[in-house]
Amino acid sequence: MSTTLGRIELPDPVLTASGCAAAGRELAPFLDLTAIGAVVTKSIMLNARSGRPTPRMAETPSGMLNSIGLQGPGVEEFVAKDLRWLREHGIRTVVSIAGGSVAEYQKLAQRLRHEPGISAIEVNISCPNVESRGQVFACDPFSAGSVVQVVRRHSAPDMPVLAKLSPDVTDIVAIAKSVLEAGADGLSLINTLLGMVIDPDTMRPMLGGMTGGLSGPAIRPVAVRAVWQVHAAYPRVPILGMGGIRTGQDAFEFLLAGASAVSVGTAVFNDPSAPARISAELGEILTARGINRLSDAVGLGHTMQARHVAAQEARRAAQEEKS
Ligand code: DHB
Repeated sequence: MSTTLGRIELPDPVLTASGCAAAGRELAPFLDLTAIGAVVTKSIMLNARSGRPTPRMAETPSGMLNSIGLQGPGVEEFVAKDLRWLREHGIRTVVSIAGGSVAEYQKLAQRLRHEPGISAIEVNISCPNVESRGQVFACDPFSAGSVVQVVRRHSAPDMPVLAKLSPDVTDIVAIAKSVLEAGADGLSLINTLLGMVIDPDTMRPMLGGMTGGLSGPAIRPVAVRAVWQVHAAYPRVPILGMGGIRTGQDAFEFLLAGASAVSVGTAVFNDPSAPARISAELGEILTARGINRLSDAVGLGHTMQARHVAAQEARRAAQEEKS
């Protein structure tokens, strides 16, 4: 079950997803955090933020809409308390960072550069809950590349940098190209989709921030499609897949599409031990299919599809020859 995300070696392919369990501590009573792939922290910003107005969450069919607004303690408190706690407990940690400008991302990378206990940086350039759409850097190839370039340049040379992309774009492969050229070592696919719920009683948007990020099983086919498209274009680029993973079978789907590891987010709200359960279920699926190494399943869906198409073509050619 061990896997790699570029330079990161993980004994387990299931990580938490950013944003659904702060810095992981609240999941500690429910699962062994040292046994999972890694904890991916809630995106940290330079300064403390109180976030968007309430209500901040709304249920949707097979999903959830949230508008937190990157609430958090700011990088200093995060380093002093959360990162320290994670380090002291020997928990592999991917630190997610978010900023309102390229300069903010640069300062965050500089601040984290000499902190021990960080396995990778996940660059959240796709938060839907920002003041202006122009700050969703991942919606524009140039802006996305600019952010990733400064994070790459100001992080330790051997620190893996993952760029987290938004599915709310016409061509996710074009964004992937831009961040890879800017020095991203891998990609986290996907962030939430921008959505809205209107309350029929009040007849106005349910969330205080009006719009929010849609997550949960409702977005899984979108995520699988994004992983598939990016893996098809860049088969050697490590992908951390996420979006509505709730079972081992869901995780398997992401591996087949081309992910080397997966993150579990929304599922922990009603099953905080989900990452461990999903890993166990995935292990059973691989064993049942005779797949001895997890890495053999990565991108296997593409091979199977190519074989299927080739067999179909061979049948058609044989039939044509007969007639
Ligand atoms: C928030 C950030 C995200 O990246 C996301 O997908 C959803 C919500 C937030 O803090 O509001």
